[in-house]
Amino acid sequence: MPITTVVFDAYGTLFDVNAAAMQAAKDPAHTDLAAVWPAVARDWRLKQLQYTWLRAVAGQHCDFWQVTQDGLDWALEANSLSNDATRTRLLELYWELAAYPEVPAMLQTLKARGKATAILSNGSPDMLNGAVSSAGIGDLLNAILSVEDVGVFKPHDRVYDLVGAHFDCAKDDVLFVSSNGWDAAGAASYGFQTAWVNRAGDPMDRLYAKPHHVLHDLTKIPELA
Ligand code: LAC
Repeated sequence: MPITTVVFDAYGTLFDVNAAAMQAAKDPAHTDLAAVWPAVARDWRLKQLQYTWLRAVAGQHCDFWQVTQDGLDWALEANSLSNDATRTRLLELYWELAAYPEVPAMLQTLKARGKATAILSNGSPDMLNGAVSSAGIGDLLNAILSVEDVGVFKPHDRVYDLVGAHFDCAKDDVLFVSSNGWDAAGAASYGFQTAWVNRAGDPMDRLYAKPHHVLHDLTKIPELA
């Protein structure tokens, strides 16, 4: 079956999650971040994701804004940072993360070829709307689908079900794109065609399924759709 619908993870895939810490570290008001921002960004992301998995397994859902704050608080403490203004600034920047440079042209190509495009993310609707509007890509997306509609985080199948429910399409009509290896694996196991965007050159996750395609960035996505 040809791909009709291309669905993207948001954080780390369309939006650069390291941009918040990198940008804040350049600000003279947040010199406390200058030496440690890469560790803060890494710890923040890792804890944010761990909390989503643990909450999904334990049936303790809360929204992504809560786990984003909880992950940051862990990361700040782990890196001996206690400046409230730095915490506030990092959280503000999460609402206006930069999209990767190739994103607008890639989405335009998909739209020109008649593909439906969407985000499917752990993010809450207001966080996703903020990031999409700040990146100026709202006109290039047919839907912004959030786990808040099912009350559990990825990689639960109920999350991937949102795509078929919204677009009335079959699983193999969908190309799902994520920079998170575990998300690409979850979507492949679910039955989507999948592309893992491995910008960091990480090893393949040893999980229950493997992505169908591995790319360095998003530029070649239209060739797969
Ligand atoms: C998301 C996270 C997993 O956007 O990056 O769903």
